[in-house]
Amino acid sequence: MQQREERMKEKLSGVRHRIAVMSGKGGVGKSTTAVNIACMLAKRHKVGLLDADIDCPNIVNLMGIEEKFDNSYQPAEKYGVKVSSMSLIEMESGPTMWRGPLIHSAIMQLLELTEWGTLDYLIIDMPPGTSDAALTIMQFVGINAAVIVTTSQDLSMMDAAKSAKMALGFYKPVGIVENMSGEVFGSGGGETLASELSIPFLGRVELSKQMRESCDRGVPAVMNNINVKNFEVIVSNIEKMVK
Ligand SMILES: Nc1ncnc2c1ncn2[C@@H]1O[C@H](COP(=O)(O)OP(=O)(O)O)[C@@H](O)[C@H]1O
Ligand SMILES: [Mg+2]
Repeated sequence: MQQREERMKEKLSGVRHRIAVMSGKGGVGKSTTAVNIACMLAKRHKVGLLDADIDCPNIVNLMGIEEKFDNSYQPAEKYGVKVSSMSLIEMESGPTMWRGPLIHSAIMQLLELTEWGTLDYLIIDMPPGTSDAALTIMQFVGINAAVIVTTSQDLSMMDAAKSAKMALGFYKPVGIVENMSGEVFGSGGGETLASELSIPFLGRVELSKQMRESCDRGVPAVMNNINVKNFEVIVSNIEKMVK
């Protein structure tokens, strides 16, 4: 076990900022936000994106990546972002249901294998909520900042508050992004939550058909010129937050 931990540490040793993208709930746009933040950051930094949502590893779909790992375990690379995910591991009969210990070992395996090299930022798409899997990743990746994604809906905010409090127990800084802002889920909740918790509000992204369509095409919105300004604000607030 100690050897495995050392191998994981070694593989991540060239990575400076390790930023978890978290949410209380699934479906609030955590993966979408992670992908767009990574692509925007990659315009001026060396960036990696770790798909740590083992149950729903969506990152390769959202980035339009089709390749698999070869023997060198170099991450896939797209839009200047290095990507690692369970989906890059070729599986003979792909397990689709993960039990606790398996998730734990899958995460460890991914961290032991991936050759990140030197990175300014590693963005980690976390499993939703405050599960065991989330704790495993926090422990092994050495995360040092978090971005909590929430909609303005009461339930999402309640769960986001829980995630934020858990994150704050492990690392600071923690900031909030409001996604799917607008008529359907409301807006302003992100700022309210941020001020209640005395943490930075990083920015917002509206709910839009354009965003949804871009996801479905497997192209990150910002690479399609959608919401570039919003993500620019979010990313420069992240840069300030972790400085
Ligand atoms: N701002 C947005 N506007 C429209 N659709 C969005 C937006 N953000 C995310 N989506 C869509 O919502 C769904 C859930 O997003 P996803 O990033 O997979 O959430 P999570 O990772 O939190 O489960 C996806 O189908 C995605 O395309
Ligand atoms: Mg997701």
